[in-house]
Amino acid sequence: WVAHLHRATLRLDVPPPPTVWMGLLEEVARRRNLAIISHPDAGKTTLTEKLLLYGGAIHQAGAVKAKGEQRRAKSDFMQIEQERGISISSTVLTYDYNGKRVNVLDTPGHQDFSEDTYRTLAAADNAVMLVDGAKGLEPQTRKLFEVARLRRLPLFTFVNKLDRPALSPFEILDQIEREFEITCCPLLWPIGCGDRFKGVLDRRDGTVHLFGRGVRGKQAEELETLALDDPRLEGALADSELFAQLRDDVEVLDGLIPPLDMARVMRGEMTPVFFGSAMTNFGVQLFLDSFLEIGTPPMPRALDAKSEEFSDGSIADDAETVDPTSQEFSGFVFKLQANLDPKHRDRLAYVRICSGSFTKGMKVKHSRLAGKELILSSAQSMLGNDRTTVEDASYPGDVIGINNPSGTLAIGDTLYTGARRISYSKIPSFSPEVFARCINPTPSKSKQFNKGLAQLVAEGAVQQLLERGEDVVGAVPILAAVGPLQLEVVSSRMESEYGCAVTFETLPYQHARWAMAGWDAMDQAQAAGKLMNVRKLQDQYGRPVILFPSEWRLNTATSELGESLALRPYALA
Ligand code: G4P
Repeated sequence: WVAHLHRATLRLDVPPPPTVWMGLLEEVARRRNLAIISHPDAGKTTLTEKLLLYGGAIHQAGAVKAKGEQRRAKSDFMQIEQERGISISSTVLTYDYNGKRVNVLDTPGHQDFSEDTYRTLAAADNAVMLVDGAKGLEPQTRKLFEVARLRRLPLFTFVNKLDRPALSPFEILDQIEREFEITCCPLLWPIGCGDRFKGVLDRRDGTVHLFGRGVRGKQAEELETLALDDPRLEGALADSELFAQLRDDVEVLDGLIPPLDMARVMRGEMTPVFFGSAMTNFGVQLFLDSFLEIGTPPMPRALDAKSEEFSDGSIADDAETVDPTSQEFSGFVFKLQANLDPKHRDRLAYVRICSGSFTKGMKVKHSRLAGKELILSSAQSMLGNDRTTVEDASYPGDVIGINNPSGTLAIGDTLYTGARRISYSKIPSFSPEVFARCINPTPSKSKQFNKGLAQLVAEGAVQQLLERGEDVVGAVPILAAVGPLQLEVVSSRMESEYGCAVTFETLPYQHARWAMAGWDAMDQAQAAGKLMNVRKLQDQYGRPVILFPSEWRLNTATSELGESLALRPYALA
């Protein structure tokens, strides 16, 4: 039926047979796509690895950050990743579990790469917020939560590291509710923590899952499952204090916590909360089972909101949407990457499929290029050395890697079939906070310099700003990044991939704002003496950008000129 479906997609005039539509519906319904958001070190890599354990067949291997030798063997294509032990590029892991197709969109944890995370969240249907049980909410958790909220993603919370001394679970719920104004609905509740972590209560069916530490103290094994009212429970816990605590907790929870309401979860008003320990595998499978049951499959996706009012990345209430079970294929590019494998100079564009189905060799249209036709001769699974061509059809919620040798595809581009030209809502980026002139000390390498930089900018690895009215070619570009590490990545990639070592001269600015009202408005403000000690530049689309040396200058300008200049922390491509 896959072949059938494919024909139906291309032949618009023939309505698809009901069996074909049912097939697509089934594929959409079994897709679960999620992105994990967390502060570095909360255990995202560990949790991802454990989630994969349940997958059996891993379609895209090598994505999970492995340590030491294993790590080098898996992804030796990005030197800086090895040196720093951080995961830089977003990747996608796909596996089948209990009849569901799970796509885990990996997001870089380091704060300098939040831009990448931003884009990955645009491709996700669900966000899983991972919280370190001892630390509670941390800066990066907060920042990413805001993004997930703007994207209106249903949010699932996993509180990790309960095998270590942790904050009280009520304290964590309270912190989340207070700071994020979201109702917590704990589904898994911890029994003790640290050395006294005994297991979890599954509040959905009132069963207590007791765990024992594995032989080497690492892998936990499930010892027993008992009903909450089973008289053997107290003996099995072998800790009367914890038993009493559990009873008290249950009373409080049942009395105070509203029942799980998926409609509220879908609106981002409630988050199901799970407690466990990724490292020792406590609660991970229960979390996964529950997530697969209640997590959202691909939903209708919003088309471009025409107005700049939505430049903060939020989605308009009345935005037109495309149903994932539409016969016509559609998807958008959320990430570009070049030179994944230095032996084969290549470029890939990652496309999140939003409707219809994709098969190899398919003809699609490019929305930004006025519907120009492209033949997608191969879709690749996308990880480093283990790249393979995807032979099966892909469906909404899946991510495909498309060869992009001539750079035809850019971030945010929509691909589609069918008569109607559509464009999905744009992907915003974080406001840059580090600015530096990027210098090529070797004039004979100017060709490599320009090419490399253009590619990295197109990939979204860094933003480029120019003096007003200046042409890209020949200028000393000013790079704008979210954090200093992003510049290090540029430098490392320029050298290893384009043979051009660059140096940076940091500029004394800390914030950037786009003046969406345009150059004239900005000139007037300056003539009136209202824009002091700032630098005016233009972005790659010729739009005015103001750099501020301090938060104080920024705040003054925002309060005086925020409206008249339509100052924005970033602008959509
Ligand atoms: P990240 O991707 O979010 O940055 O976190 P990662 O999984 O790399 O985990 C960060 C550290 O936290 C690792 O320790 C990891 O083993 C530990 N960790 C993750 N989950 C748990 C948990 O449930 N309980 C406990 N006790 N620790 C956990 P490390 O010392 O940096 O590395 P390793 O030598 O243990 O691999």
